[in-house]
Amino acid sequence: MKLDKRNHLSEDELHDLSFDDFDEALNPRPENSDFDAIVEEALSRRGFMGGALVFGGVATLGAATTALAPVSAQASANRFGFSAVATGTADTIAVPDGYNWHVAARWGDPLFSDVPEFDHETRGTAASQARAFGDNNDGMSIFSDKDGRQILVVNNEYTNRSVIWGNNPDGKYATDDDINKGKNAHGLTACELKEVDGRWQIVKDSPYNRRFTPDEPMEITGPARGHDLMKTAVDPAGVTVLGTFNNCGNGRTPWGTYLACEENFNGYFGTADADGYVQDGPKKRYGVSGKDRGYGWWKVDSRFDVAMDPNECNRHGYVTEVDPYDPNSVPKKRTALGRCKHENAEVVVNADGRIVIYMGDDERGEFLYRYVSEGYYAEGGDTDDLMENGTLYAAKFFPDGTGKWLALTPETTDMDQANICMFTRMAASKVGATTMDRPEWVAANPLKAEVYCALTNNKNRGVKPNAGGDATPVGGPNPREANKYGQIVRWWPSNGDHTANTFTWDLYVMAGNPTVHEDADGGSYNVNEGNMFNSPDGLSFDNKGLLWIQTDGNYSNEKDFAGQGNNQMLIGDPTTGEIRRFLVGPKEAEITGIAWAADRRTVFVGVQHPGERGDSDWPDGGDRTPRSAIVAVRRDDGAVIG
Ligand code: FEO
Ligand code: CA
Ligand code: CA
Ligand code: CA
Repeated sequence: MKLDKRNHLSEDELHDLSFDDFDEALNPRPENSDFDAIVEEALSRRGFMGGALVFGGVATLGAATTALAPVSAQASANRFGFSAVATGTADTIAVPDGYNWHVAARWGDPLFSDVPEFDHETRGTAASQARAFGDNNDGMSIFSDKDGRQILVVNNEYTNRSVIWGNNPDGKYATDDDINKGKNAHGLTACELKEVDGRWQIVKDSPYNRRFTPDEPMEITGPARGHDLMKTAVDPAGVTVLGTFNNCGNGRTPWGTYLACEENFNGYFGTADADGYVQDGPKKRYGVSGKDRGYGWWKVDSRFDVAMDPNECNRHGYVTEVDPYDPNSVPKKRTALGRCKHENAEVVVNADGRIVIYMGDDERGEFLYRYVSEGYYAEGGDTDDLMENGTLYAAKFFPDGTGKWLALTPETTDMDQANICMFTRMAASKVGATTMDRPEWVAANPLKAEVYCALTNNKNRGVKPNAGGDATPVGGPNPREANKYGQIVRWWPSNGDHTANTFTWDLYVMAGNPTVHEDADGGSYNVNEGNMFNSPDGLSFDNKGLLWIQTDGNYSNEKDFAGQGNNQMLIGDPTTGEIRRFLVGPKEAEITGIAWAADRRTVFVGVQHPGERGDSDWPDGGDRTPRSAIVAVRRDDGAVIG
């Protein structure tokens, strides 16, 4: 056995890690970042900074960090229309006075009348799970059909072993059916939702109800379709892939389709001789190793045995387009949008009609991307080419508050188009894009050309390079070493043109704890004891141009996080900078995913993995199994929300 860090961790310790920590345990980064590379990076900025060398620690909080500037009290007129919710640690949901909530759909809820109700003892079977609401709901959208029926499409990102297999003594799979139950809990759920006696619920047997499991056939489209590295034993032509899984954030197109975004796809591949398995460069960059994250799929499906089927992993990590209106439609994996640990896909129709899609790659020190279509969108026109032919870009931020989109092309990367789409991270490394503090959701302001991205946290900032060896110097939009609280960066495309290759940027907020820290870890001017939070993740604008912010952070409520309570949702005013807490989630959950009903009198909010460490029975109570769920939030007076 090789002596490396993973051999010091027990199987249980390994599988209790977050996806990021799991990857890093299996693929240790060098302990120290390359100092020369950081200096070189800092020096390379001189030309943009008039010769000033800004380098190291919080001293890099330069002109671009306007988030630290004070806002006048006059400017903070209340556009929110609600009173702030206090932080909390209770195992429930808290919303403002004058608002109410109820559960609309939960993990294991049957989509069809011949499926049994969720069984808290057994937690279902592979067969029941394949036709019931999936686990760990994340990004979601609501679509309306011509009759006004409400169709929910939602990602079922992953499953917590200790919850789904909590009926087994050790909280692990014991049988093949257990493994397949876990597998079927992944993917997507589509279902019709309807308000009955004031409560939203799943319409059983609706023609729109459908599960997309990791075995659902999907078409591979775009530059990587049919490439040798996409060919497998099951699919020798490299054109049809089974399934999608670990979809995190989402997107929706103006032509009425849903975009699912695959994130930590690497954690599902393994092999019997895990320690003997040798990764090639691309597998190392994407974290595909011989050890899976404890799901066991490779034991029941050879596609996931990375030694037997080395190319299956190349077929995951994409954005998949789903037509919610046609239950027989075949989803399309759009390789033109690149392969990474996608968070969401924020689709913007540029003023000239081109489609621009902003996408984060959520791993420490990875990049922020943009896709620009070649073709132009016209309502009712053919849209099939818009996510097929276009150019990917990676963002470069300069400390003076300007930035550039760097095109990923055969000329700039020395990679062909298929390789750029399959190994996008390596292409972005080649052009020298800015390594970011884990880019999560991107949200574009519907009222102006302005875009926000949550940079959730990054304990390796200024400490270790990313998985590709790129330095992660402190500075620019990533201003804090070993960043524990996260921040939201925003940018303005030049001339309001989302296809422009230049932009200006600032930090909308630096999260922090002003009750514990007096330095930059106390947060920016718009963070105070009454609204503090950590680890911004989900972002979405409402129709009024207010930014809804969801958190997936440290809920210990102690030390650096004292007083911050459970994960939460806040609303930010982009103009004044003011941020107000709207909702607090139950114990050991993150808040992720947001969608409005067509009449905008209900906002649906996702609650993921309550009780991931064993201390929640939300939402059903009575010491029963905790269940990820979507809650419907409304005003008591029935008025429109956002
Ligand atoms: Fe699944 Fe980046 O959160
Ligand atoms: Ca999540
Ligand atoms: Ca997320
Ligand atoms: Ca997250």
